[in-house]
Amino acid sequence: MSKRNSARQKKAPDRAEREERLRGGSPETLRGGSPDPPRDKHCAAGQETRRAMSRNRPRTLVVGVTGASGAPYAVRLVERAVRAGRRIELIITAAGRLVLADETPARFIAGVPDFSGLWPADVLAKVTYTPAEELAAPPASGSFDAEAAVILPCSMNTLAALAHGFSANLVQRAGAVALKEGRPLVVVPREMPMTPIDLENMARLAAAGAIVMPAAPAFYHHPRSVADLVDFVVAKVLDHLGIEHNLAVRWPGCEKV
Ligand SMILES: Cc1cc2nc3c(=O)[nH]c(=O)nc-3n(C[C@H](O)[C@H](O)[C@H](O)COP(=O)(O)O)c2cc1C
Repeated sequence: MSKRNSARQKKAPDRAEREERLRGGSPETLRGGSPDPPRDKHCAAGQETRRAMSRNRPRTLVVGVTGASGAPYAVRLVERAVRAGRRIELIITAAGRLVLADETPARFIAGVPDFSGLWPADVLAKVTYTPAEELAAPPASGSFDAEAAVILPCSMNTLAALAHGFSANLVQRAGAVALKEGRPLVVVPREMPMTPIDLENMARLAAAGAIVMPAAPAFYHHPRSVADLVDFVVAKVLDHLGIEHNLAVRWPGCEKV
């Protein structure tokens, strides 16, 4: 797991690494690849090289976590998405950190996250964490090569910001970027009851192209545990992001009564 603002983090990416990141590449995916040929002479070959790199590189999913209840959804989603070959740009708001620390084994000590209780090392290795206060991080730009963004759980506060075009933090900005770039944006609000303001904000966001999926687990898969309920919501989100999974949540049909 890498973290952008911690004094204890690994060395900050140098300019070349950052440019690679902005191109969506990673040291692993680029290693061994041939460099682009000069543009003037071999433009077509260069484009083909870039297309091949694009096919091979792990796809990146932006996951925004805000201060609504439901942090376990995010934990499970990250794990499943990594298992499906994704890298994760994990962005957490200040309120999101409070809720995550309250509802999961995540810990933040002097701002330094300890996610070792959430995911094993191989999953952590695919997660880059950025606090939402870091507005200058790569996901703030439309040039950042993310395949989609998901905000879960999504607070009414963040929902309102997105619905009205505010980008006061990196979660809000990453959501706005997904909308403006025409990338999938899945928003998973959680609140009850909802006011007409909340309902209007959901309608506004849906009209703007977001997929609004309130965290509302069903019971037709006969859940036996909280984990089963979490999996229902996570599976729905993965389905809408086009990320394959084998969570057992499909409705098998039932007998007529
Ligand atoms: C423990 C806790 C649980 C909360 N649960 C919810 C919730 O389920 N839904 C919601 O919209 N806000 C909830 N809130 C309030 C939000 O955290 C608050 O509106 C905050 O400003 C959201 O900021 P953010 O959108 O930047 O994360 C909760 C707050 C706390 C401390």
